[in-house]
Amino acid sequence: MTAREPVVTVALDPDWASGALVDDVRRGLGSQPRTLPPKWLYDDVGSDLFDEITRLPEYYPTEAERAILRDHADDIVAACDATTVVELGSGTSDKTRTLLDAFTAAGTLERFVPVDVSEQTLRDAAVMLSERYPSLRVEALVGDFTLHLAHLPSGGRRLVAFLGSTIGNFYVEERAAFLGALHDSLEPGDWFLLGTDLVKSTDRLIAAYDDGRGVTAAFVTNCLRVLNRELGADFDVDAFSYVPFWDPRQERMDLRLRADMPQRVTIPGADLAIELTHGEEIRVEISTKFRPDRLRDELGSAGFSVERTWTDAAGDFALTLARRET
Ligand code: AVJ
Repeated sequence: MTAREPVVTVALDPDWASGALVDDVRRGLGSQPRTLPPKWLYDDVGSDLFDEITRLPEYYPTEAERAILRDHADDIVAACDATTVVELGSGTSDKTRTLLDAFTAAGTLERFVPVDVSEQTLRDAAVMLSERYPSLRVEALVGDFTLHLAHLPSGGRRLVAFLGSTIGNFYVEERAAFLGALHDSLEPGDWFLLGTDLVKSTDRLIAAYDDGRGVTAAFVTNCLRVLNRELGADFDVDAFSYVPFWDPRQERMDLRLRADMPQRVTIPGADLAIELTHGEEIRVEISTKFRPDRLRDELGSAGFSVERTWTDAAGDFALTLARRET
């Protein structure tokens, strides 16, 4: 079979990135506590640094999820009757290929829909995937999964995969809103495959987010460089320390940058100037850790029933297969 050309639909409007960045900076940095959403960590430099994180010995989630997919891809295929796989935040669909291999071996899959905000990465991935899976229609969607779920192509029986514990970046209320929007964009009987990092010892969590080589610190700090470049800001990047900690009440990692000296920062592109006091912190990312029973409750509240859960041998990470109820 010869590969078909992938179809790429763009749901993002062309100045989404700049407009959304300005809004997020005004809202997040212009008030206290100061925050910045983690999506701005992933420019080219940040994406490379995140890639490096996934290969660090301390950062267990990527390998744990890969092991679950390797061991259970056939179980996933057997458990659901999907004819379309959608992947949210697909990047290069690296881990997902294990799943697509199992689906195409079974001969039941017709279509793959990778969804990502990064247009060039997505276009390149779509071409690569069309060649690798000539039996599949590849229909890529350039979009933000917090905004554009209504643009998912309909038809067939869909399985939406949301891997990597990216859902852990959402606050509780954002998570509920996301699950609600996902529910609304699916049909009764459609499937949801969710990767979540699990609560574990504080030592291992801290180690995973405070690696010895400082790659995570560089990754988190890079967001200030993004603001300097994109908005003409004048953050003195070296005047911040990386402060990761475990919040036991919310059961999440809380990743912050702390100003080591008082400083006045101007951000012309956002028409903003801020005064940071000595020791003031900017929260750049949260990474929520989950418990299977609570996840079941949250999915249930959003109208999904959990059909199967798989974990890796160490019990570090879970892959949950849920189904939209009627
Ligand atoms: C890609 C959001 C799942 O929270 O573990 C890794 C990002 N930040 N190290 C995570 C991240 C610092 C990662 N997610």
